[in-house]
Amino acid sequence: MLNPKMEMELNKQINEELYSAYLYQSMAAYFAASNLKGFAKWMDVQASEEVKHARKFYDFIIDRMGKVVLEAIEKPPVEWDSPLAAMEAAFKHEQHVTGRIHFLVDLAREVKDKSAEVMLDWFVMEQVEEEASVDEYVQMLKMFGDKPQGIMMVNHEMGERGED
Ligand code: FEO
Repeated sequence: MLNPKMEMELNKQINEELYSAYLYQSMAAYFAASNLKGFAKWMDVQASEEVKHARKFYDFIIDRMGKVVLEAIEKPPVEWDSPLAAMEAAFKHEQHVTGRIHFLVDLAREVKDKSAEVMLDWFVMEQVEEEASVDEYVQMLKMFGDKPQGIMMVNHEMGERGED
């Protein structure tokens, strides 16, 4: 039986992950409209990843015989000032998600929910990876992004991303 607070916060996390998917899909559209197909592809793949994250929380609640409650998803921004500004916003968002995951781990410990704690372990490490991969592109753009060749180099690199 899921603790009611845990259940509420896991439901909130479904919404957070679906908002992440929405945000990255909006960034993908922004990049596609700017003819940056590599950035757009990377964000497309990232958006699909976020839907999978939401699904993991959804499945966990169902498996624990809890109640899934899907709330409205907030509208994401549609424009950014530059590719760097968009990637910095993505990094900031991932830091926010990391904070949420750590909060959930603390809550799982507080309510002595071992299964939630173990399920969340995967997300703790996933966040390390997500922050590192976005930061890599932020740093590249800071180094070379003020030149068109720099943007095209990062665009090419991001376009190499396959499905994870
Ligand atoms: Fe599901 Fe990018 O955090």
